[in-house]
Amino acid sequence: MPPDPINVSDYERLAADRLAEGPLGYYAGGAGDERTLRENVAAYARHALRPRVLVDVSDVTTATTVLGTEISMPVIVAPVALQKMAHPDGECGMARAAADAGTIMTLSTIATCTPREVSAAAPGTPRWFQVYVFRDRGVTRAMIDEAIDCGYQALALTVDAPRAGRRERDFRSGFSVPDDLDMPAVTAAVGHTGGITVQEFFSLVDPALTWKDLEQLIADSPVPVLLKGVQTAEDARLACEHGVAGIVVSNHGGRQLDTVEATIDLLPECVEAVDGRIEVLVDGGIRRGTDVLVALALGARAVLVGRPTLWGLAARGEAGARHVLEILRSEIELGQVLLGAPDPGAVQRAHVRVKTGA
Ligand SMILES: Cc1cc2nc3c(=O)[nH]c(=O)nc-3n(C[C@H](O)[C@H](O)[C@H](O)COP(=O)(O)O)c2cc1C
Repeated sequence: MPPDPINVSDYERLAADRLAEGPLGYYAGGAGDERTLRENVAAYARHALRPRVLVDVSDVTTATTVLGTEISMPVIVAPVALQKMAHPDGECGMARAAADAGTIMTLSTIATCTPREVSAAAPGTPRWFQVYVFRDRGVTRAMIDEAIDCGYQALALTVDAPRAGRRERDFRSGFSVPDDLDMPAVTAAVGHTGGITVQEFFSLVDPALTWKDLEQLIADSPVPVLLKGVQTAEDARLACEHGVAGIVVSNHGGRQLDTVEATIDLLPECVEAVDGRIEVLVDGGIRRGTDVLVALALGARAVLVGRPTLWGLAARGEAGARHVLEILRSEIELGQVLLGAPDPGAVQRAHVRVKTGA
């Protein structure tokens, strides 16, 4: 029996032991030389926290709000495709884990469950729906309508993937979606899912999407729209001007354009450009509660985690995903106590320094 996992890295090792080469490469891999994949994680080590002392930390809370929704901690579950390939509990198990942890799960367009099934698995809890706009707008519309009908509280439009990144681990392993899995959105678009490659399912995404389409999506949406995949101050500013409710500074976990900067290094310019008009979230490389504190100090309202909860799901199903979220929450809470920040809003810019020459 391996020892019980106590942190995200332990879960990563457990997941790697359990998964076959193809799925593991798909989940763990990045694009090109995986520079950005590594950088996302490594960049956190170039930040130092600056604790303040003699702050009353007898009553610390990790609870916060995102887009007005109360969550137990500033961590949201990122949209991650193909979760039943990790574990039969799939997206429904992930939704229950997020609900138990008191936070939001974001369901991917290319999930292995429908928005309705996930909603039924954890009724009455807040959830977001991640949108890829397909060339076949009818399929996209139907997915969005179902999510709205099931009470999803926000849409996150992902804009960093007009085509799949160059995922070389998938090329080497010859990865394609196993025959026994169904991705309802993909099946709706092309009639089947099994055997489809990553390049093929991204070829369904409309590469002609522009800011005009975003405006239309916002105009048609009864719920707030977030833009996921913003990486520059210029686009952060445009996002505000086009009426989004928030942005997610993201490089898709290093899976799209390789050689882009780590997201934590892009966060400050995006926060500055937004200038308090909308909420700014960030994802990529967050593996510790202390990473979350760095992101808060640099102006993020909250973070999203992709692989950490995926490793939990792959290792131990729903219970593993729940445990990963519990671990992150307790690490954030302890971090806040030791940093001298009784609540997430108390974490300020002065609580972090970027180490020079690191
Ligand atoms: C296996 C995998 C599948 C993903 N699928 C999606 C997806 O369907 N839609 C999306 O917007 N982002 C997707 N992402 C990106 C995540 O939402 C998130 O941006 C990224 O995982 C954050 O980095 P982290 O894994 O280091 O936490 C995926 C990421 C991974 C690892």
